[in-house]
Amino acid sequence: MVRVGIFGATGFTGIELIRILSKHKDAKIVYLSSQRYNSRVISDVYPSLEGFCENKLEDMDLEKAASVCDVLFIALPSGYAYEIASKTLRKVKVIDLGADFRFDDYSIYKEWYTGNCDEYDKIERVYGLPELYRETIKKAPIIGNPGCYPTSAILGLAPALKSGIVEHNVIIDSKSGVSGAGHSPNQINMYVECNNNIRAYNVAKHRHRPEIEQELTKIAGQNTRVIFTPHLTPMTRGILSTMYCNLKKETRIEDVYDIYKDFYKDEYFVKVLKPGNYPATKNVYDSNFCQIGFEIDKHANTLIIMSVIDNLIKGASGQAVQNMNIMFGLPENTGLDMVPTIP
Ligand SMILES: NC(=O)c1ccc[n+]([C@@H]2O[C@H](COP(=O)([O-])OP(=O)(O)OC[C@H]3O[C@@H](n4cnc5c(N)ncnc54)[C@H](OP(=O)(O)O)[C@@H]3O)[C@@H](O)[C@H]2O)c1
Repeated sequence: MVRVGIFGATGFTGIELIRILSKHKDAKIVYLSSQRYNSRVISDVYPSLEGFCENKLEDMDLEKAASVCDVLFIALPSGYAYEIASKTLRKVKVIDLGADFRFDDYSIYKEWYTGNCDEYDKIERVYGLPELYRETIKKAPIIGNPGCYPTSAILGLAPALKSGIVEHNVIIDSKSGVSGAGHSPNQINMYVECNNNIRAYNVAKHRHRPEIEQELTKIAGQNTRVIFTPHLTPMTRGILSTMYCNLKKETRIEDVYDIYKDFYKDEYFVKVLKPGNYPATKNVYDSNFCQIGFEIDKHANTLIIMSVIDNLIKGASGQAVQNMNIMFGLPENTGLDMVPTIP
């Protein structure tokens, strides 16, 4: 039984972790931290967990957490995980849902995030996208769990870039549900602002762009540039990323389908749709699946790829549990085999 601790248990991704792990047959939640609800029982704060998780919320205690847990999930804002992971190194495995361990290059991390990680390069960690890094995740002490937009974009673009059928300049237009911003209230996630409304934000300066470029560059084997425009949409969960790539030459859609089917042939959580079928966020709502579809615009010789995930599951907590399963030698879909919810 894997003994699990969660820092930041009362946020959206923390609660999603508890929901998944409370039904995971090989994991047991033994430690939950919260500053705001310290000493309260989690099901008192979130009654949906009544009967599923009755753990008490505790103050952040690194020593205690490291001594009673086999793995720590860090579901805090970015900037906290580096200190936690460096103090608990070699005592417990760490899966960070924030951005502290996603970057290969510290200067890029510093350009976009505020955390202070003096010995960044000395800390061994793996970018936790199982479909690309499964073998290294198995032995990793620390996982930088990917961001939600990057998960949808990288999974959608990887086969096209790897196969070399497209140019290395990509346009990514992403739409996210409001839970992507976490549960702290702010101006744009107020009901009156996001209901019946859709808006772009952080245009040409969203911090997920460098993360996406880092991974696409490695996949393509050459510098890959991305124009990334995120939008907030009036949904609770879900991300749809629509991506535009110039084809190097005239290409048949059947050949693109074969490339994608082959790339993901062993992947349980990635579903490639037949030509003519387009993914929708409801197809993966409340599940760890990613669905990918595509179309060729012959007029512009452009491959248009559409990728959908549930931002809180494949985009965060589900993927984190998928990583835990790999790290502890468990079947990858343990605790994650939920069928998407309709309607
Ligand atoms: N939401 C998503 O779809 C998503 C997807 C991928 C990755 N992520 C990443 O996952 C991490 C958690 O995201 P989330 O959406 O769960 O956030 P959230 O709902 O805002 O929850 C974060 C939790 O961290 C705790 N916390 C401790 N110090 C804090 C501080 N200085 N400011 C705010 N909260 C603080 C809070 O709990 P207490 O006050 O009880 O301690 C809070 O409930 C973030 O790094 C985020 O970027 C989120």
